[in-house]
Amino acid sequence: MKTLDKTDAWVSLQAHFNETHATHMRDLFVTDPGRSKRFSLDVAGIFCDYSKNRINDTTRELLVQLARERGVEARRDAMFSGAPINRTEGRSVLHTALRSKEALSVMGVDVAAAVVREKNRMAAFSEAVRNGVPGVAGKGMIRDVINIGIGGSDLGPKMVTQALPVTGPRLHFLSNPDSNAVHRILEKLCAEETLVIVSSKTFTTQESLTNFHTVKQWLSEFLGSERDAMAQCVAVTANPAAAAALGFAEERTFVFWNWVGGRYSLWSAIGLPIMLAIGADQFELLLDGARAMDQHFRHAALEENMPVLLALLGIWYRNFHHAPSHMIAPYDARLGEVVPYVQQLDMESNGKRVDIRGNELGYGTGPLIWGGLGINGQHAYFQLLHQGTHWIPVDFIGVMHSPGSITEHQWVVHANMLAQAEALMLGRSTAQTYRELRTAGLSLERSEYLARHRTFPGNIPSTTLLLDTLTPRTLGALIALYEHKVFVQGVIWDINSFDQCGVELGKQLSTDIFAELAGAAPVVHDASTTALIARIKRFDNP
Ligand code: F6P
Repeated sequence: MKTLDKTDAWVSLQAHFNETHATHMRDLFVTDPGRSKRFSLDVAGIFCDYSKNRINDTTRELLVQLARERGVEARRDAMFSGAPINRTEGRSVLHTALRSKEALSVMGVDVAAAVVREKNRMAAFSEAVRNGVPGVAGKGMIRDVINIGIGGSDLGPKMVTQALPVTGPRLHFLSNPDSNAVHRILEKLCAEETLVIVSSKTFTTQESLTNFHTVKQWLSEFLGSERDAMAQCVAVTANPAAAAALGFAEERTFVFWNWVGGRYSLWSAIGLPIMLAIGADQFELLLDGARAMDQHFRHAALEENMPVLLALLGIWYRNFHHAPSHMIAPYDARLGEVVPYVQQLDMESNGKRVDIRGNELGYGTGPLIWGGLGINGQHAYFQLLHQGTHWIPVDFIGVMHSPGSITEHQWVVHANMLAQAEALMLGRSTAQTYRELRTAGLSLERSEYLARHRTFPGNIPSTTLLLDTLTPRTLGALIALYEHKVFVQGVIWDINSFDQCGVELGKQLSTDIFAELAGAAPVVHDASTTALIARIKRFDNP
């Protein structure tokens, strides 16, 4: 296969970029008001307006040609069929099987049956806990659940349960091993009424196991024995042997499989806290929404394929406009955790510097993903978007209809979201600003001075994703949309989006440093690390 920058589509895109990059979007809207209709899509309860992007019909054609030349369709089909596309780990990538209703066997294993079996176990357990069935999780009624997990074993359940109404026990997410984080949660809970879920794909993650040991001790102290403590703990893992070695009984262990990446795992047993919080029926609807997006991704033409188009816009900005970052701004307080979730999904997947064969890349891959609730961001960092020296494309995410909400509040939210997108796109010229200041009665000199400060270049692209309403279905579709966007970009960049070797080195070194802090003989470090270890140790043992 040709390297990316030697493909016909890439070469044409580069020429097209050179010709068009000075064009301002406000002129595109003047000459072509129909672009709003042509550059929008409505899929699975999500309306996507991508007309405020620096593209025209030719850009879209060439970007789609790039996707075809890079074999996106074949790689997509390979993923859905269970081919081992995660080559460094020699694994299939089958998070889509967790929400599929189709039969699927991979290497003689009936994947679909295993998924249903485990989901039924989760549903039986979570409904029993929700209904207060005695003995199902310790002796009493469970009112609180602590989810111990980090990264993909934390961010998905946290995001979903913040977005959707919780009708079951209260959830507490313990990811950070800082003892302050543990104490803050434990000090407000009653041990007899607390279920502990230890979520870890590998069941070797130091942070999660450290938290587990402390929480187990707390349970044991209040419940009187380790046996009673373990009766209120369940494990969620792809490594049941490691959970068993730590005392988790088989019936208290919910499993998923190596072919589910941690950051793609909320649809699996990692979603147990979600089921406990919203109920098994609502969890099914979340899967339905993701499945609707899967179907769209598999069957829609690339020109009308929402995840493919979002991915291609990202490539356009990352590789041709050289934008190093991408901002996500949800305009609904319930979607606040979407940004950290997509941050892991995207940055851990596509933060890669070699291609799938291990060759160093000559082009940029995943951008920095950042952002937060849009309304709050407007009063913090949006200034830099409008007038700073960075150039940052944005995804706005809004919810059109929120039953029971106060209409006027929703108008404020929607008005602000649309205004920001419009202002980023239009900008304001110095001449226009100058005229406005003069009309307001300011002197010539003052108007000239202020106009320079109040000029906005504009031409900053954004895509607006409008959910009809926020339900398990639309949320499921939104998450799957980002999953597939990341996948398509990985295919085009020719990288493995499903490993995360980069985080391994830090984990390895931290084991040695931990041992040293705990009294083991020092090993050789750089002078800075040695001095910092010594300083911390002095405080540990003053
Ligand atoms: O940060 C690295 C990572 O391996 C993530 O990919 C993963 O989601 C997280 O750690 C937690 O891992 P585990 O579920 O195995 O505890």
